[in-house]
Amino acid sequence: MNPSAQPPDWDPRSADVQRGPIRAYDEVAQRCPVAFSDMLQWSVFRHADVMRVLLDPATFSNAVSRHVAVPNGMDPPLHTAYRQVIEPYFSAQRVDAFEPACHAIADVLAQALQGAGEVELMESFALPFAVRAQCAFMGWPQALHAPLVSWLHKSQAATLAQDRPALAALAQEFDGIVEGLLQTRRQAGAAAPHDLTTALMQETVNGAPLSAADITSILRNWTVGEIGTIAAAVGILAQWLAGHGDVQAQLRAHSALVPAAIEEILRLHGPLATNRRVTTCPVELGGRSIAAGDRLTIHWTSANRDGRVFDQPDTFQLDRDQSANLLYGAGIHVCPGAPLARMELRVALQALLAATTQWQAAPGGGAVPAVYPASGFSSLRLRVQ
Ligand code: HEM
Repeated sequence: MNPSAQPPDWDPRSADVQRGPIRAYDEVAQRCPVAFSDMLQWSVFRHADVMRVLLDPATFSNAVSRHVAVPNGMDPPLHTAYRQVIEPYFSAQRVDAFEPACHAIADVLAQALQGAGEVELMESFALPFAVRAQCAFMGWPQALHAPLVSWLHKSQAATLAQDRPALAALAQEFDGIVEGLLQTRRQAGAAAPHDLTTALMQETVNGAPLSAADITSILRNWTVGEIGTIAAAVGILAQWLAGHGDVQAQLRAHSALVPAAIEEILRLHGPLATNRRVTTCPVELGGRSIAAGDRLTIHWTSANRDGRVFDQPDTFQLDRDQSANLLYGAGIHVCPGAPLARMELRVALQALLAATTQWQAAPGGGAVPAVYPASGFSSLRLRVQ
């Protein structure tokens, strides 16, 4: 299938976009709500257009890659079968049971910041928190923390460069890590640890055991989904609160307000930039004619800053109705990990607030925006008291 040949409406790699991605997307969304670029093909910015894409998987398919991606790269009916296997792993019961371990991880990291003065928050808190939480949730050893951080950095660089050979090598590297974990459990037999990884190895889908490729793909998606978004989200929350000392003080005094504040700050600046779809037939969207086989990119934060849906979209409103917030998506691919993510972010932010009396941007700024497809900050220097 040939994609539409179009003159580009914008350039996602331009210096302007990289300096301030959120503002740049807002500007393109105003001018051209469904915009073509050579890098992404069709970018969808408006809330109504994004909802139309999310709620019509027959027209807007998730089969965007020839590589297996369970369940993100699947359409119904296969997608439905795999979702049924995955969803129980993020039940309220499982998330509640994991919360004390998550607290312990966040507290140790937050307390290390006490009296530290100036810190780089991504490397000293956000990334280690995300990696340690994910490993603890899955039952993985501490020895994996450093390799996973390094893998994430390399994966983001290769995705940005659209370096296919590097991405293929990285996928293999991840598969090797997971294969080691599975092998240990196979060899242990009945003595294998009673953790989520062992449980996943015993699942069936449509009456057949999950294949090794399925398990690896599921674990890759959970791990990349968790580490990338949780680390980015922690950085975004800390940076926004650094510039809003009044809200920081309010949350320190009333920690019950933390969950609502998280949803609203991440509506203003989402930790996940985009997801993709491919059309199965010709379609009109936002006044543009899109051919069958064209690629679409959903821009989550732009949809969440759409003034047609959110009153004064650029302002922080703690009591805002969040029912239209697309932070975790909508429709059949809505984030299954959302209950875990919400708990982890609440615990991380409460630990940071409890271990400190105040933080602000380090002198001279200190926030370096991450480069697409990453979101949030690649570096965040804060003065912590
Ligand atoms: C702040 C953190 C997170 C955010 C903002 C986020 C956001 C999202 C969004 C917007 C989608 C929908 C994608 C689409 O429609 O194409 C999604 C899907 C998904 N997320 Fe998350 N996520 C987060 C954390 C997690 C965690 C912690 C996990 C698991 C450990 C996870 C696993 C997944 C999976 C497996 C899918 C694919 C679901 C499917 O295709 O049916 N996410 N996420």
